[in-house]
Order: sequence, then C-alpha cells, then structure tokens
Amino acid sequence: MSKLFSSYQLQDVTLKNRIVMSPMCMYSAEKEDGIATDFHLAHYVSRAAGGTGLVLLEATAVQENGRISTKDLGIWRDEQVPALKRITDGVHAHGAKVGIQLAHAGRKAELAGKIVAPSSLAYSEDYSTPEALTTEEIKEVVADFRRAAYRAAEAGFDVIELHAAHGYLLHEFLSPITNRREDAYGGPAGNRYRIVSEIIKAVREVWDGPVIVRVSATDYAHGGLQAVDYVPFAKWMKADGVDLIDVSSGGLVPVVPTSYPGYQVPFAEQIRTGAGIATGAVGMITSGAQAEEILGNGRADLIIVGRELLRNPYFAKDAALELGEKIEAPEQYRRAWR
Ligand code: FNR
Repeated sequence: MSKLFSSYQLQDVTLKNRIVMSPMCMYSAEKEDGIATDFHLAHYVSRAAGGTGLVLLEATAVQENGRISTKDLGIWRDEQVPALKRITDGVHAHGAKVGIQLAHAGRKAELAGKIVAPSSLAYSEDYSTPEALTTEEIKEVVADFRRAAYRAAEAGFDVIELHAAHGYLLHEFLSPITNRREDAYGGPAGNRYRIVSEIIKAVREVWDGPVIVRVSATDYAHGGLQAVDYVPFAKWMKADGVDLIDVSSGGLVPVVPTSYPGYQVPFAEQIRTGAGIATGAVGMITSGAQAEEILGNGRADLIIVGRELLRNPYFAKDAALELGEKIEAPEQYRRAWR
C-alpha cells in the first residue's frame, strides 16, 4: 500500500489518508460578519467528497481586528459557531476529518481602524502602521485564542491549527525583524516565543484534540529567521503540547521567493529530523508520485495541498488512481468513480 493512502494518527484522531487541504482564505463572508456562508459549506464539503483526509478551514480570526480583510471568517463570537457546525457535519458525512486555522493578522490586517503588532512597524508603504500591543492587550489576544478554541470544539472540529506563519501576528512575534520589543515578549528567542507558548497552553486548557502550528521556516530576509531557528522553536512547541508542524515559508516582508515543486519540503524535513516532531509538507505538491516520494523518504508525515485542491476537488481520487489505490466513492458517485 502507498504511504499516501495509509492512515495517520494525530493523537486520537485517525485520518484515513495523508492528504490535507491547506488553509486558504476565500474572502467570502459577504456580510462582513465573519459568518461562513453557503459558499464555504459547498467549498469544504466538496473537498471531503473528493477523498481528502483532513480538510483545514482557512485563517479564521480570533479577534475582529485580527482579520486580513472584512470578508474573512471569524470565530470571535458565539454567533459564528452554527455556520461552522454545518461545515463540520458536512465534512464528517464524507468520512473526512476537519480542522480550523485560528489566526490573527497582526500588522497585515487590511482594515480601517486600529491594527496591532508586536512593534509599531508597517509591513510596507501600502499598509497602515500598527500600534504595539500592550502587555494587557497581549493577554487579551491569548484569552481570545482560548475562547476561539472553545468555540472550535463546540463547532465540532477535530483539529486546531494555529497560524504562526506568513507574517501574521504570531510570526511577527517570532521574528526579530518585526519584534523589537524590550519587554518579556521581545529580545532572545525564548522571549519572542513566549506569546506562542502562552497561546498553546491556553488552547490546551479547553481543547483535548490535536494541535498543529503553521510556521514560516524562513523569512527570506537578511536578519530574519531560517529553518535552523525553527528547530528549537519546534522543540518548545512539542513540549508545550503541539502534535505536528505545518511547514510553510515567507510572508513576513514583501519578498516573493522563487518557488518550484516541493520548494518547502527541505524545511519540513529539517524540522522533522532536528526537533523530532511530525511535520506536514506544503507548496506545489501536485501529484501522487511527488507526495509518495516525500512520505516514503521520511521527509514529512502529511501532505498539505493548496491550489491543486482549488483546481481539482478530486485530487485524492486522482492521486489514488495514479498510485494504483482504490478509495471509497461517495455513495452518490459510485457509478462514476474509478
Ligand atoms: C493561501 N494560503 C494560506 N495559508 C494559510 O496559512 N492561511 C490562509 O488562510 C491562506 N490563504 C490562502 C488563500 C489562497 C487563495 C491561496 C492560494 C493560498 C497559502 C496556502 O495554504 C499554501 O500554503 C500555499 O498556497 C502553497 O501551497 P500550494 O498552493 O502550492 O499547494
């Protein structure tokens, strides 16, 4: 049997295969209230029908001013839970598991009004300058991640992913480029990691299930973080109760890296080996054979697929065909499945 279609145990949660839908913002909360719509329901459930093992919902804001745009999904109030519950029920009906990416956009929030970050440094000339968070406000952010995790459990999610990548708030704390604080949350790596640690522990108070953290393994910038810096971070995350690191890159500064098939896989491998923690590989992974190489050679534990799943909700079915595997069809589609 292929590795890709072998099951995977994330704590008590069994994934039927190693294919994960990468979190991707759809900017489609049309009423600007953070509430998932019929579009989101169809979008996520169709990927589950296509055979994906774990569907991760897009960046979902834990605070209103932590959205990237006004059309982001939100989980900062109870009224946002029922629409998320419809999605988790719909995904579960197809035998897939479902997770939510809890996020705060930090200085990359493109919103009117106050935006916040570790330090008062704008992302670029086109972005507003954030206010540096006070210690009290940091405690509120941590508490709001905890409240969001509680709501995620109520909404029926199996997995929580914390978004600490792509230049959003938690990444801004981790990187010395964006964190110039002189208090307990800035300076040495252990201090820059502090808010992430507090959030993981706060989430763990209300959430028993698997926790994934998405990181950007390199900042692609002079003076920024590199994969080697994430080895200790990942060890600390593991000690704090994280089950798997989803290894992405970039987004902290306005630099677009050269990308090519599997360009981030070496980072997933380095963190996996260096920190002794499971990882997910992401970035231009588009075929069964490519996924099999990554898993078979022990470079990562899960295969996280973004744009290919936007193009093709049936990626899992097609990869199975490619690898000579048979996966179960949704009952309604049996006569067409091969
Ligand atoms: C993304 N990406 C992304 N990442 C993330 O952590 N949270 C998010 O909400 C989003 N939003 C998002 C929207 C859209 C439209 C795209 C295309 C991408 C990044 C995404 O999850 C993934 O890491 C990258 O797209 C690279 O993987 P692929 O697409 O090459 O498989």
